[in-house]
Amino acid sequence: MRVLSVASEVFPLVKTGGLADVAGALPKALATQGVEMRVMVPGYPDVMRALKGGRPIRRYADLFGAEARLLSGKAAGLDAIVLDAPALFGRPVVHCHDWQAGLVPAYLRHAGGRPAKSVVTIHNIAFQGVFPAAIFSSLGLPPGAFAVEGVEYHGSVGYLKAGLHYADAITTVSPTYAEEICTAEGGMGLDGLLRARASVLSGIVNGIDTAVWDPGADPNLAATYGPTTLGRRLANKRAIEAAFGLEADDGFLFCVVSRLGWQKGMDILGACIDGLVAQGARLAVLGSGEAAIEGMFRAAVARHSGRVGVVTGYSEPLSHLLQGGSDSVLVPSRFEPCGLTQFYGLRYGCVPLVSRVGGLADTIVDANLAALDRGVATGFQFLPVTPGALGHALGRAIALHRDGKAWRRIQQNGMKSDLSWDASARRYADLYRAVGG
Ligand code: ADP
Ligand code: GLC
Repeated sequence: MRVLSVASEVFPLVKTGGLADVAGALPKALATQGVEMRVMVPGYPDVMRALKGGRPIRRYADLFGAEARLLSGKAAGLDAIVLDAPALFGRPVVHCHDWQAGLVPAYLRHAGGRPAKSVVTIHNIAFQGVFPAAIFSSLGLPPGAFAVEGVEYHGSVGYLKAGLHYADAITTVSPTYAEEICTAEGGMGLDGLLRARASVLSGIVNGIDTAVWDPGADPNLAATYGPTTLGRRLANKRAIEAAFGLEADDGFLFCVVSRLGWQKGMDILGACIDGLVAQGARLAVLGSGEAAIEGMFRAAVARHSGRVGVVTGYSEPLSHLLQGGSDSVLVPSRFEPCGLTQFYGLRYGCVPLVSRVGGLADTIVDANLAALDRGVATGFQFLPVTPGALGHALGRAIALHRDGKAWRRIQQNGMKSDLSWDASARRYADLYRAVGG
């Protein structure tokens, strides 16, 4: 008698539990009863590697959205029929983001067999997921993993540290931040480990969703526009003035869309507000975060009623409107792994004025004389991250804005730059292939 046994796991090919033992043992046991048993299993990478002489016996043009086939052959001594469907079962790489996913590479490494490879991406090294050592016993890792060569971090358990130790490759979200986190100043305690792993560390800049952020078709704007219809942005400025309690005025309007925390340098901006207003400019702030910073902005509104406006809270529509009608978006971060608001500014002709750190250094071309001369400037950069340097950059922006033609050129350069995911998606794909191939 011939019987087909269908199971998701079969020892020794693939096993998560007792089912695999039974499915692996039955064919041999039943052979003595005159039963010829074949096993049908998913073509997981380990199964595909073990399969010998796999002969196609059936093809599927579209199995849950991709090609697949059934292969008949021998695997680990078993007569097997394997569903070769790479789109379903081929998962040679796991991509883990930030500390919350940091233990994944540890579990993979301690799982035995030939586990999937792992890539860990650091979006912000300030958040490391450090927990008391007592948590270790509930993690299900072998005792030996509580070690410097493991998940241990200064006597505690470090989730991000674990990820950085076990990962096959490490990325962060810009090349400059990749360098910064290898220094004592930028590494926040993990720089030693990162220097030791420098050969597998790289920076891949984020892209943006150019359909969600499209000034030509954005439903959150009072008026949509493109690089040749920048005058239409004025209608958005009017809408911002109404929403932020600002006086109507065609002059310079800065905006902020940000978490209000130490990283973002908002206290440094706070020290520059009086000077900004004295030069005739206005400021609209959308953000939420630390109470002290919210209070600082409220005090500025009280001092400069009609010239400074603040909305505390989170509003996706207002964040789009600010980019669509302000002249410049401020990002004075103390550190910034990549940053996205400067990209939205570029795309919306809202010229970014940023500190020269991390991803901000990599993605904005400062309007210095050489860049203006060559027509490649896209924004303004300053360093060090101090009120003095920021104040100077604010003055440069206000002055250049008086030259309407030069300003338009900067806006258009930004709007025409490629901010899509294309190039970075290619780099991730290359990395997955290099690591998991
Ligand atoms: P981070 O992730 O460090 O906060 P990013 O610049 O990478 O900095 O991303 C910030 C994102 O959050 C952007 O999409 C920005 O528009 C959005 N954002 C920040 N604060 C607000 C807010 N108060 N309301 C709406 N969107 C906000
Ligand atoms: C983090 C970083 C920010 C980056 C974002 C996405 O929140 O602070 O700079 O853009 O992650 O990678």
